[in-house]
Amino acid sequence: MRIMLLVEAFNSLSQRVYGELVRCGHELAVEFDVNTESTQQGVALFKPDVIVAPYLKRAIPRTVWSRYPCLIIHPGIPGDRGPSALDWAILEGRREWGVTVLQANEELDAGDIWAFETFPLRIAPKSSIYRNEVTEAAVKALCRALTSYKRGVLRPLSQRDTTLGAGILRGYHRPAMMQVDRAIDWGQDTTEVILRKIYASDSAPGVRDWLCGRTVYLYGAWKEATLRGIPGALLGQRDGAVCRATVDGAVWITHMQAVQQDGRGLKLPATAVLGDAVADVPCIPIVQNSTETWREIVREQEGAVCHLHFPFYNGAMSADQCRRLTDEYKRAKESDARVIVLHGGPDHWSNGIHLHVIEASESPADESWRNIEAMNDLVLEILSTTRQMTIAALCANAGAGGVFLALAADAVYARQGVVLNPHYKNMGNLYGSEYWTYLLPRRLDAEESDWLLQGRLPITAAKAVAVGLIDGALGRTPAEFRDMIARLARAWAHPDFWSARLSAKVARREEDEARRPLGAYRAAELAHMRRNFYGFDRSYHVARYHFVHKTLHAHTPLYLATHRRARPLTQAQEGTS
Ligand code: COA
Repeated sequence: MRIMLLVEAFNSLSQRVYGELVRCGHELAVEFDVNTESTQQGVALFKPDVIVAPYLKRAIPRTVWSRYPCLIIHPGIPGDRGPSALDWAILEGRREWGVTVLQANEELDAGDIWAFETFPLRIAPKSSIYRNEVTEAAVKALCRALTSYKRGVLRPLSQRDTTLGAGILRGYHRPAMMQVDRAIDWGQDTTEVILRKIYASDSAPGVRDWLCGRTVYLYGAWKEATLRGIPGALLGQRDGAVCRATVDGAVWITHMQAVQQDGRGLKLPATAVLGDAVADVPCIPIVQNSTETWREIVREQEGAVCHLHFPFYNGAMSADQCRRLTDEYKRAKESDARVIVLHGGPDHWSNGIHLHVIEASESPADESWRNIEAMNDLVLEILSTTRQMTIAALCANAGAGGVFLALAADAVYARQGVVLNPHYKNMGNLYGSEYWTYLLPRRLDAEESDWLLQGRLPITAAKAVAVGLIDGALGRTPAEFRDMIARLARAWAHPDFWSARLSAKVARREEDEARRPLGAYRAAELAHMRRNFYGFDRSYHVARYHFVHKTLHAHTPLYLATHRRARPLTQAQEGTS
């Protein structure tokens, strides 16, 4: 079928839906819902059989839904309506939640149900539920609905049908959740309630709070098991996060956003937002084997396998975070492990250099440089591992430099549902580094590399395996994936297997180094990056500004709007595509 994705932004769910539908053989186009006129124009150009809206913030125009079947993916159970579906479910501690695929009509979220899926609701941040359970359920329900539609056997359920309730988890209309619903009363709320409030608001809009004499929004909450103090008091800091006492314990807050007078603000590590106000707050070292606390990087060894987890918030890696990870990686190299597994985090593997920290710095060009050098040092450390085999285990999505960081490992495996964005160009024509000019040709030929880098499209794990970018797509769920990776790593650590592979890799690296030293690749990439950061062309700085401030698109980027490409480009489009 010809399927058009109508979206507010090409977000993670839209990208996954795009990848899956392409894989099923459908012809896809993407249109950004900029305004009614351009949406109508895009639809008229593509003439879709079906329109799917995985991520849309306003109602589809009547002129569109009255002519084409339009499917809305709503992150709620049947009957649930409103813009804060997941927020309410998390805040109210629902045990089960779901996703509904419904047909657009004149009333928001009230159309006929084409399919739905339910899942157990984890106690976790909204963005984590969205990127995992919601995404998997949405893809399943949507594919089922489209298959039935194509075969002509679809039986939509009317939301007005009162029998819908029989045996089905049923929701109802909920208003938008306001800050007053999210507000924390530090003198009353328990740790569990505080965590739920922050989880329900993470990654947006955050919980508005008052701390050290300023209004801040809170994100990234973790329970602390041992520290105690007067409720609301700051007890300590660690790697950019602060720990705050509650009535029955304490929580770590990793990120905050202070809103400026112009309404803009950047989400940053908490201590960067609080600045001098936390200068005297003690640094709390990690006590090994302590129960629950916040750890930015976790290294654990099981037999001959070392597992390195780095769940950096949003997968963004600042210069300081890269250095801390490099130090931890060096410790893994010095251990007696025979295999090192790089796990990234559960919601993002890595998205490359930290664009928010760069944007907030005094000199974004200098900070970009510091960050890419630190990232390159990390990649180099992995590439020059001569005593261990390395595996990058991508349970979650990766983008830009994060993908090339993964390629530094000896083998790269991803969970089946993972989406990769192995390109830099979307960030203002950034050239990219992370030794990609060495790493990519090891796996792809020039034509495939060009398709990947210039096309700027997301690819599913299955597609990445098919083109040879990664070695395998394993497991449907995170638990399945972790289990399969653990077994694979144990097999790799078997002394016979390990020594044969290790000598082959060391020999290959030596040959490669003799042909062209890694330093030459790095120097050549950094020469381009220097121009990106310090040169006359400001595209990278402009693109980064728009990215971190989430500026809405004024038109659909032409790399996505295939249906608009056949027409001659207007001057304005040429200048901005
Ligand atoms: N630095 C800082 N923050 C980043 C980031 C980065 N490199 N990559 C993603 N984020 C943040 C976003 O700002 C967003 O923040 P939020 O919590 O306020 O919502 C969050 O991570 C999720 O990103 P989003 O773009 O909404 O996710 P997505 O799944 O729709 O798209 C990517 C994934 C990777 C395509 C997209 O995030 C991206 O292009 N990131 C930038 C990659 C890059 O150019 N890195 C620099 C060069 S190495």
